[in-house]
Amino acid sequence: TGGKGIGTGALTFKPIPPNTLDTFVVPNGYDHAVLIRWGDPVVPGAPAFDLRRQTAAAQARQFGYNNDFVGVLPLDKGGKRALLVVNHEYTNEELMFPGFTSHEALTVEQVKVAMAAHGMSVVEIERVAGTGQWRVAGSGRRPYNRRVDALSSTLELTGPVAGSSLVKTAADPKGRRVVGTLNNCAGGVTPWGTVLSGEENFDQYFVGGDAAPAADKPRLARYGITTTARYRSGSRRWERVADRFDLAKHPNEANRHGWIVEIDPYDPDSRPRKHTALGRFKHEGANVIVARSGHVVVYMGDDERFDYLYKFVSDKKFMTGDSWVARKHNLTLLESGTLYVAQLGQTSAAEIDGSGTLPSDGAFNGGGRWIKLVSGNRSYVDGMSAAEVLTFTRLAGDQVGATKMDRPEDVEPSLHTGKVYVALTNNTNRGVGSNPKPDEANPRTANRHGQILELVEDRTDHTAETFTWSLPIVCGDPADPSTYFAGYDKTRVSPISCPDNVAFDATGNLWISTDGNALGSNDGLFATATEGPERGHLKQFLTVPRGAETCGPFVTGDNRSLFVAVQHPGEITGATVDNPASTWPDGDYAKPGVVVTWRLDGGPVGS
Ligand code: FEO
Ligand code: CA
Ligand code: CA
Ligand code: CA
Repeated sequence: TGGKGIGTGALTFKPIPPNTLDTFVVPNGYDHAVLIRWGDPVVPGAPAFDLRRQTAAAQARQFGYNNDFVGVLPLDKGGKRALLVVNHEYTNEELMFPGFTSHEALTVEQVKVAMAAHGMSVVEIERVAGTGQWRVAGSGRRPYNRRVDALSSTLELTGPVAGSSLVKTAADPKGRRVVGTLNNCAGGVTPWGTVLSGEENFDQYFVGGDAAPAADKPRLARYGITTTARYRSGSRRWERVADRFDLAKHPNEANRHGWIVEIDPYDPDSRPRKHTALGRFKHEGANVIVARSGHVVVYMGDDERFDYLYKFVSDKKFMTGDSWVARKHNLTLLESGTLYVAQLGQTSAAEIDGSGTLPSDGAFNGGGRWIKLVSGNRSYVDGMSAAEVLTFTRLAGDQVGATKMDRPEDVEPSLHTGKVYVALTNNTNRGVGSNPKPDEANPRTANRHGQILELVEDRTDHTAETFTWSLPIVCGDPADPSTYFAGYDKTRVSPISCPDNVAFDATGNLWISTDGNALGSNDGLFATATEGPERGHLKQFLTVPRGAETCGPFVTGDNRSLFVAVQHPGEITGATVDNPASTWPDGDYAKPGVVVTWRLDGGPVGS
């Protein structure tokens, strides 16, 4: 692809057809290998995995469950050693514990295993010489390897909410130290070599909302925690192990989750931090770009139907170079800044009928503005303090009239073009009953397949408070007239449904992974150029096994290796570890795992 324009690289692989196979499928000319799977040893001294004798102490040293975000950070200049950083979003107890019947019937030790299977892993990996394949580094020294979990890891709160009355608990009267990170979904690698991880559906871990103080209930409810019953059926019941999960006893504990976590994988002794300046919601992920001014800008989505799109602009400026001084400075960039929420305007309001038919101006597009919520310790939302806006950010967004989106998941700026891409997964409630009606950015009633939104900051300045946007891709079966692929010939594109995570390769092509394919085939990974004549020529690159979601995607800087996380293989109603719906990857029962894919001839992936 050398010599071509940025983001225009032709993707020459032959797309693979949709399928429902219980295997991992890549195009001709490619190979793949499982790099690491649930239960593999991470921390030195980890015992071999034993399904029937699993303990929390073992799990706390082994690779966790339901790998989601994947980042690969170099350890050397030659591209031979790297750190793999992975999120473990949640657990499927029915696929983990033989004989599972209900959460109530799990032993206390099994609940602890599940808590230890959450969180994050850092694993040193090494390249297989001469190829794009990577493997877990040999059993010698692995000084960087670590696990962070929901059972016993301590994280530090930073920013305006740290130390406030909203996050003080009996166990942490100063409001600065939190045990555990919950539901770590997507994330991003920062320009200073750390990883950001989004705490997403943290509501599912708490009980006792019905007995919480009356003033707290609307706030709990806005975040999905039931306030009319002690817990919902199917609740994880972690309060049986740790009473911090019981809001009747510790109503502030929920306020200590739902943040962006920053972990420094190069410093294994560092305490991961929850940055309150970035707001609290169901964070899908967070991706950073350095603005021309030097301020760092973080784009974020709140993955719930009718929730919002956000950005954060740091107070301080990014310091370049590899010096210790620069790194120490950059590690403070996310502790203070300005948080905005997006309001999207439209150009064709009268014409949006929910059918997906393009408006008469030929595009779903419009302008928009970033509404300031908080700057430093100053609130811009009436009746809410800065700490309240940051802790109950959804309520602040409601109050200022932010645009209700179709599940904004991964939000990622292209470092090549500066354009920001938003995966809007789906929203089957759009326009249904009394729910918000379709608008130009969310144009389909009962939206099953989702869309991709492209956002361009005014003056291409990432600190700007205004922008324009358009929908380059409206997903679904290309034969469905409500789909759109940037005007590309729809007979030549792959069907895609439920875009979830996005990434860019070194050429600037956009890679899109899916979660919940409503077309009935397995989830997978797709790629398209973002600029030039190939824009919208979306092609399917891989599929994951039955019941799995495709997460992670990460392409190495040399374009030779592509990583994806296979999350929740075999997660199909009624399936159990005793009666699995998937036997990937080892032929016995399903295990989430991270896969590396490479081109057999050593060439760049995709091209
Ligand atoms: Fe954890 Fe929104 O996916
Ligand atoms: Ca329009
Ligand atoms: Ca996801
Ligand atoms: Ca991403």
